[in-house]
Amino acid sequence: MKQSISADDAEDCFSGFPVVLGTVGGEKDNIITLAMCHVFSFRPPYIGVGIGPKRFSHHLFKESKDFAVNIPDRNLLKETEICGTKSGRRVDKFEAAGLTREKAQKISAPLIAECPVNIECVKVNEVDAGDHTWFIGEIVAARKDATYDKADMLLYWGEYRVIGDMVK
Ligand SMILES: Cc1cc2nc3c(=O)[nH]c(=O)nc-3n(C[C@H](O)[C@H](O)[C@H](O)COP(=O)(O)O)c2cc1C
Repeated sequence: MKQSISADDAEDCFSGFPVVLGTVGGEKDNIITLAMCHVFSFRPPYIGVGIGPKRFSHHLFKESKDFAVNIPDRNLLKETEICGTKSGRRVDKFEAAGLTREKAQKISAPLIAECPVNIECVKVNEVDAGDHTWFIGEIVAARKDATYDKADMLLYWGEYRVIGDMVK
């Protein structure tokens, strides 16, 4: 038997969204932990990240022509939490989390060397949707560790998880 639930409870029914570390360059570079990340188009290849306007990163993403989506794995949980709780307003998160800046091939934003996947995006659109702005970018370059395993990717929605059984 089903019961009516609130909008908050409805949003809470999702099990988890992929956790990524967004990086951006500009007058000051920064890292932000994001669970709002989605593929928006296959051809052309667009992915987007949702950032709240109160975040320091919001204005950096607004000002920048490009950004990167770096995928951490379960071994980078501590670093992911640091980048999702500290603000670039006050700290250099590369230093605070012990992460290494790596030069991108095609964009100005730095990449995170420790992340097994780095995706370089040139911004193509910005969509204000309620309390988040979606920054959508075209993938112009990407790199992946030969040993990358999706099963080690972090998911988050109130709690951190990794993916479970494959059912098909
Ligand atoms: C697991 C996790 C997921 C998060 N997802 C988002 C997100 O999708 N969008 C967002 O705006 N903030 C998200 N946050 C919060 C920001 O990462 C956090 O407020 C961060 O400190 C902002 O950094 P900044 O002030 O340097 O921009 C998330 C935090 C965590 C720990």
